[in-house]
Amino acid sequence: MAEIPPGGFTAPKGIPEYVGPEFVAVRDTLIREADRAGYAHLELPVFEDTALYARGVGESTDVVSKEMYSFADRGGRSVTLRPEGTAGVVRSVIEHGLDRGTLPVKLRYAGPFFRYERPQAGRYRQLQQVGVEAIGVDDPALDAEVLAVADAGFRALGITGHRLEITSLGDATTRPAYRAELTRFLEKLDLDEPTRGRARINPLRVLDDKRPEVREQLADAPLMVDHLSDEAAAHHRKVLGYLDELGVPYTENPWMVRGLDYYTKTTFEFVHDGLGSQSGIGGGGRYDGLMAELGGQALSGVGFGIGVDRTLLACQAEGLEVAPARRVEVFGVPLGESARDRLVGIVGALRRGGIRADLAYGGRGLKGAMKAADRSGARYALVLGERDLEAGVIQLKDLTDGSQTEVPLDGAVAAVDRALGA
Ligand code: HAM
Repeated sequence: MAEIPPGGFTAPKGIPEYVGPEFVAVRDTLIREADRAGYAHLELPVFEDTALYARGVGESTDVVSKEMYSFADRGGRSVTLRPEGTAGVVRSVIEHGLDRGTLPVKLRYAGPFFRYERPQAGRYRQLQQVGVEAIGVDDPALDAEVLAVADAGFRALGITGHRLEITSLGDATTRPAYRAELTRFLEKLDLDEPTRGRARINPLRVLDDKRPEVREQLADAPLMVDHLSDEAAAHHRKVLGYLDELGVPYTENPWMVRGLDYYTKTTFEFVHDGLGSQSGIGGGGRYDGLMAELGGQALSGVGFGIGVDRTLLACQAEGLEVAPARRVEVFGVPLGESARDRLVGIVGALRRGGIRADLAYGGRGLKGAMKAADRSGARYALVLGERDLEAGVIQLKDLTDGSQTEVPLDGAVAAVDRALGA
């Protein structure tokens, strides 16, 4: 039989676990903003055919070449734990013919994604995203909608320290010429061999180099935004105009390089300065070639993925309270067995009435039970002793100021209701 490891079982390295309501509150707030704009829920598989990601995300990316959790299943097929959501959504749209209905197809998803990265604060091997994808219409107003939904999610949480950085990566008509020009520029620089290797696979990646000696040489690098086709340039201007219209602030960052290869035209990142080096709390853009690349019609798409883990960290960095501090509103404290029997029913009635309630289980004494009541965050305790029971009353104790009122046992639920409403 497998042994318990020395020190006990632990979760795999780089996987955060969340106890309490904050994580869910952040995730659900982000989802709510997508719902408000009419995005339908899509429950994606957690693993897919490895080739889907190799083809969809791009073999030259770190995500595909270094970070995938790939394994052969018992039938010998190579499958991969999803490193991101867009490829899976596009696969699902093609497979189920969702693009034969009204366009755009607007979908949202949430859940864990897996990347074998070096774990550190804000960078995990199991990361959580809320994402949206709008597929089938190449309309700059849709890019702006996607951005406004993400921005509204951050704002609904009370976040103010985020910044939207945006650029355009152009389209297939001018990108090859731009790549060739950038390659010629990079060839003239004094770069080490690994960097030259990266430039050969994807010259755009080099623009993202953070080392000062490389940055200095890149100061005059040709930029994609200066090489856009007329159509891509017009699209970009329209997106920025809509963002102004929608009151979504942005800064243009023509140096932006994303870690996934499918982007065209609008490309963006939301960054938060309170998070140290892992400052990207969300990212996304347009991916006009992806549907066709994965075997579907040549339809465009645009979407975002917001990192829920990092958004929660951003809330904490800003000192925001994202969930009610109180786990329950009322806590039952029975003193003795017959009191407990009676309180079980009262707590059940409170819950049926929509009041969050809990009870001291396990026959604890008054002191232990009151401590549990305090820890629960409850506003009120319902304390029931044997003598109260005989007299047909129960003590409603206000845990914020310690004051106590005696109320009839039969009217306990109504009394709590009144007290909470006051
Ligand atoms: P991404 O930029 O790779 O884009 O990931 C989106 C967000 O997920 C990041 O901004 C970050 O907040 C979070 N994230 C990524 N990796 C980690 C990690 N190791 N630990 C914690 N958080 C992480 C995508 O995944 C695209 N599918 C987004 C998209 C949708 N583009 C178009 N549609």
